[in-house]
Amino acid sequence: MKKLILSAFTGLVIVASAAQAGQAAGAAGDAQMAELKKHALALIKGYAMNLKGTLKQALKKDGPVSAIHVCNRKAEEIGRVFSVRGWTVGRTALKLRNAMLDTPDEWEKATMKMFEKKIAEGADPKKLIRAEIVKTDNGRMFRFMKAIPTGKPCLTCHGENIKPEVRNAIEASYPKDEATGFKLGQLRGAFTLKKKLDN
Ligand code: HEC
Repeated sequence: MKKLILSAFTGLVIVASAAQAGQAAGAAGDAQMAELKKHALALIKGYAMNLKGTLKQALKKDGPVSAIHVCNRKAEEIGRVFSVRGWTVGRTALKLRNAMLDTPDEWEKATMKMFEKKIAEGADPKKLIRAEIVKTDNGRMFRFMKAIPTGKPCLTCHGENIKPEVRNAIEASYPKDEATGFKLGQLRGAFTLKKKLDN
């Protein structure tokens, strides 16, 4: 009887300490996740500000037809500037203009479909994010997405009533363009970030 009590007791201790260890790992995991999210949002802020600034400047200075070309070279270039210290920063969409550069993978597609659903349910598209640590063949990877809603200036080149000269110029560079017909506030795409983790 004494032995039974003892082993039951030991069992309990093991369970308790395992739970404690789990909790500690969870807390460390939460802290790491919070740090990664913070960093991802800061990178997006820089990337988005640069992208928007470049686009606005080009639209104002040269008009939408020239801005098309500024935009397509700059987006990748600016993305590369922010892709430092293991991070990859880019953007993608379900309906693509540049399928060569921006094609989403399954995780990204599922995330954007989830964003669309939430927007349809009334969520604020500016606040939609998804962060996850996923296991890959190369180890753990932090993945992050933030929704890009269609804003007013975006309608010039992604909206429903695109001026013929703009439409022609877009079609000349992107004959398979799917990225038109968007309404204000709809999900245009998403920023997408990755970082390979050490363990
Ligand atoms: C002057 C025309 C123009 C304007 C204005 C414009 N875009 Fe684009 N957009 C483009 C072009 C051209 C591409 C393809 C870029 C490339 O080749 O990488 C593109 C691509 C994108 C992509 C990448 C996914 C894809 O379809 O290939 C996203 C996301 C995007 N635009 C969002 C926006 C948002 C959000 C705005 C408004 C803030 C905006 N765009 C305004 C021309 C424009």
